[in-house]
Amino acid sequence: MNETLASPVHSAALAGEPVVEFRGVTVSFGGPPVLEEISFTVAPDETRILLGPAGVGKSVLLKTANGLVQPDTGSVALFGQTITGLPERQLFPVRARTGMVFQEGALFDSLTVRDNVAYQLIQEKVDDEEIDARVLEALRFVGLEQTFSLFPGSLSGGMRRRVAIARALINRPELLLYDSPTGGLDPVTSTTIIELVLKQRDVYKTPSLLVTHRLQDAFTMCTHRFDADKGAMTPLPEGETDHNTTFLMLNEGRMIFDGSLHELVNSKDKFVREFLE
Ligand SMILES: Nc1ncnc2c1ncn2[C@@H]1O[C@H](COP(=O)(O)OP(=O)(O)OP(=O)(O)O)[C@@H](O)[C@H]1O
Ligand SMILES: [Mg+2]
Repeated sequence: MNETLASPVHSAALAGEPVVEFRGVTVSFGGPPVLEEISFTVAPDETRILLGPAGVGKSVLLKTANGLVQPDTGSVALFGQTITGLPERQLFPVRARTGMVFQEGALFDSLTVRDNVAYQLIQEKVDDEEIDARVLEALRFVGLEQTFSLFPGSLSGGMRRRVAIARALINRPELLLYDSPTGGLDPVTSTTIIELVLKQRDVYKTPSLLVTHRLQDAFTMCTHRFDADKGAMTPLPEGETDHNTTFLMLNEGRMIFDGSLHELVNSKDKFVREFLE
C-alpha cells in the first residue's frame, strides 16, 4: 500500500476530539438565514453524509466548515481550533489541512491536469520534482495517471470529478469535504466516484463530510467497504452497515436529522420520510 497520501496522525485524532464542530451557526448573507442555529460534529473516525433538497444550504455549510463563508452568529472549530473570526492569514494554515472537492469539480480549464492537481503545492512553492511525484501519486489513487499532461476540456465528466478528488488529496488532508461529488453523473460513473470515496475512507481513514442528493450513494457507502487486496469495493455481509458512516439532513436552514442509518430509515419525521421515499 502506498503510505504517503495517508493523513498524518494529528493531535485532535489522538485526543478523540471532533475534527469539525459547528456550534449554533447562523449564516444570512444580509437576508433571511440560509443556515440557522446549526450544531453538529465530525469525529476523527467518522464519515458524515449531508442530505437535503436543492438550494437548502448544503454548499454554504461545507464552505462554512473550512472558513470560506463566515457565520453571522455561532462558531466553527476545525481540529480543535476555533476558526470563526480568524484573519485570513491565520485561517490559511488550518484550511490547508482540509481537502475540498467543489460542486461540479471546479477545475481550471486553462491549466493542465498536473497544474490543477498541484495547485496548492504551487502556491506553497514546493519544488517541481516533488510536485510531479505527488501529482502522479494522487492521480494513481484515482486511476488517472495517463491524464497528467492533458487539459480538463479533453476529459469526461467522471474523469474531471476524479481529477478534482486527486486535487483535494494532494495535501494529505486530515479532513475531506466533498460537495455533491456524483452530481450530474450517470449511475455507473457515480458508482466509480463513490468507490473512490470509500477507498479514501477505508484505506486512509480520513474523516469526511460528504454532500449528496443521491440516496443510492449514501446507502452504498453504508453497505460497502473498499477491499484493498481486491482493489475494489465489496458489499458488507447481509445486514451489516458501516457504523462510522452517519447522516445529517438539512431542510429550510435547520438541521432536522443527525444520526445513524438505522435511525434515519426508522425516523418518524415527516420530511425525512418524504425524502427517503
Ligand atoms: N455568497 C452568497 N451570497 C448570497 N447568497 C448565497 C451565497 N451563497 C449561497 N447563497 C444562497 O444560499 C442558499 C443555499 O445555497 P447552496 O448553494 O448552499 O444550496 P445547496 O443546498 O448546495 O443546493 P444544491 O443542492 O442545488 O447544490 C441559496 O438560496 C443561495 O442563493
Ligand atoms: Mg450545492
